[in-house]
Amino acid sequence: MANPKPSTPVPAPVHKVRKAVLPAAGLGTRFLPATKAQPKEMLSVVDKPLIQYVAEECVASGIEHIIIVTGKGKNAIEDHFDSAPALERFLEDHGKKDLAEMVRKITNMVQVSYTRQKEPLGLGHAVLVARDLVGDEPFAVLLGDVIIPGPRPATRQLVEVYEATGVGAIAVEEVPREKTHLYGIVAGDPAPQPPWGARLQRIRDLVEKPKPEKAPSNLAITGRYVLPPEIFDCLARTKPGAGGEIQLTDALRILAQERGLWAYIYEGVSYDAGDKLGFLKATVEIALQNAELGGDFRKYLKSLQL
Ligand code: G1P
Repeated sequence: MANPKPSTPVPAPVHKVRKAVLPAAGLGTRFLPATKAQPKEMLSVVDKPLIQYVAEECVASGIEHIIIVTGKGKNAIEDHFDSAPALERFLEDHGKKDLAEMVRKITNMVQVSYTRQKEPLGLGHAVLVARDLVGDEPFAVLLGDVIIPGPRPATRQLVEVYEATGVGAIAVEEVPREKTHLYGIVAGDPAPQPPWGARLQRIRDLVEKPKPEKAPSNLAITGRYVLPPEIFDCLARTKPGAGGEIQLTDALRILAQERGLWAYIYEGVSYDAGDKLGFLKATVEIALQNAELGGDFRKYLKSLQL
């Protein structure tokens, strides 16, 4: 059979999106020294580690099984999702049933499996490492240093696009031109259709971290993806790209050409919490929305008279 026309969506038989891959093997160099002996995914925004925000987004998006790709020095992530009987007993013995329940909920919220990326060969390679655990079904990818709080998670929105069209979808958002070198950038053609309207674009091309003058647009990849299993063959054919690493963005280019891929301008706000300023913004805004602390925190910020 002849190859389909580049960028023409080729719907595959649609299966429910049950699994998610969370790459968490990176060294977190943007956040040193905090990440010298601590995984960046365990940095806490207000009262929860970043990886828990991401796991909660998975659960709210219908995901049943999370696969975390770890590396050296990441044991704290496994401990966080593991059961903690001694801690639960202590809390119950001291009349803190609510806290004991909260700790138990983290353990029981979703099935979690772990696999290891043995060498830092890039984000694309980290996703490829999860191939056997994902198997022959569609899956989500969520980057652990991006948090997108809100009632309708970005991953849920992508799952809806995938399950309705049978074509993979990635979340994108506009960024200032001078920042294109920090993101994967997409070139797309508007493909409006109900119920998504102009939020949907058919991807023509993707470039990882282009300089502003080489960027095909200012639509950046946010760190949320829903992909068909064919992405694994694309990854296996992907040569090292930007930074000498096997880039997920380069494999997505192959997928877009061979099977089609949507860019979806998701509804919501993302924080790049793997970056110090992004982390501070996330902390302030999420603290302001916190039921327990928000009021006092707002008063405190106002008192600073900046
Ligand atoms: C990764 C991806 C990039 C994406 C970004 C979103 O880059 O490679 O395409 O735009 O995440 O945060 P990283 O930030 O890991 O360098």
